[in-house]
Amino acid sequence: MAKILVTGGLGFIGSHTVVELINSGYEPIIVDDLSNSDPKIMDQLAKIIGYKPPFYKLDLCDEQGTKELAKKEPDIAGIIHFAAFKAVGESVQQPIKYYRNNFYSLLNILNAYDGKPVNFVFSSSCTVYGQPDVLPVTESAPVKTAESPYGNTKQIAEEMLKDMQTAGSSYKVISLRYFNPVGAHSSALIGELPIGVPQNLVPFITQTAIGKREKITVFGDDYSTLDGSCIRDYIHVVDLAKAHVAALKLMEAETFKGYDVFNIGTGTGSSVLEVIRAFEQSTGQKLNYQIGPRRGGDIEQVWGDVNKSKNILKWQTELDLDTMMQSAWEWEKYIAQNPL
Ligand code: WQD
Repeated sequence: MAKILVTGGLGFIGSHTVVELINSGYEPIIVDDLSNSDPKIMDQLAKIIGYKPPFYKLDLCDEQGTKELAKKEPDIAGIIHFAAFKAVGESVQQPIKYYRNNFYSLLNILNAYDGKPVNFVFSSSCTVYGQPDVLPVTESAPVKTAESPYGNTKQIAEEMLKDMQTAGSSYKVISLRYFNPVGAHSSALIGELPIGVPQNLVPFITQTAIGKREKITVFGDDYSTLDGSCIRDYIHVVDLAKAHVAALKLMEAETFKGYDVFNIGTGTGSSVLEVIRAFEQSTGQKLNYQIGPRRGGDIEQVWGDVNKSKNILKWQTELDLDTMMQSAWEWEKYIAQNPL
């Protein structure tokens, strides 16, 4: 079984990816500093997969610690690198915190395994496109000036990984540009665990429905979209997790060289009001919502062209918006009854 290092493996996307790696016969090794994840997610994972994968509590900004990790785990076939800070608003307030964490961790892990034939999957983001001129946005669309330090870390990291390939690195690299990951595992044993007040739409919806929040505000209904609210490409986190397995498989092929980048979305956009309606219809919960002003920095509409992922990565989504909403709701109910 090929060993895969999963940095940030106890986080939202990381934990779902650990499950899919095991489903596909890989042996995940989890690295996480627990700065934005709960150690009890390991117990939850064990309930799904039947055992606790090897775990290292490590901040990858610790260069020496990361080198020691590479000595203890020399025989890995791949790295899936989730470990990074991801709150857009916070990155605007504290840019150095973001540049420091997201770059040091990436550089240290790359350095630690430099010279070895390792397949590297990088968590990138549709945020690199800003507001695209053409929709659906393709991977070859121009990368716009980043809207936040967080987005900038993704853009620069992609450039860096590409430069590494040009220089003949021992790594093969795939950057996955995620659209908006939502939903939870069908077991309802793992899901998103926002710290404090959720910034993202779906956790805010489920927390409102369960009564943790009084109501949800739709940030603007005067955009140039069909119903006036913003449009995003929401993707089920389990589909997203499977894209990482597909990326590893693609890099295992002799024919894959160097570096490539893929959009990871459904290829369809949904407006905020459509998401709210889907939540209400698929869960039977009435949502207390109001229309409010626009949120600063929001992009009007974005969804991905996923033809390259279908054709080359041999991956596409299977789960629809209703399943995303139902699974997010099941997880919210689970966590309300079984706080970690
Ligand atoms: C979605 C829509 C809001 C909350 C996120 C990440 C970003 C990138 C993509 C990773 C927007 C609206 C939200 C609320 C609302 N991912 N909304 N009321 O802004 O697309 O960005 O995914 O790199 O980094 O932050 O996602 O979930 O915050 O918002 O009306 O209470 O929901 O205005 O249109 P966003 P989001």
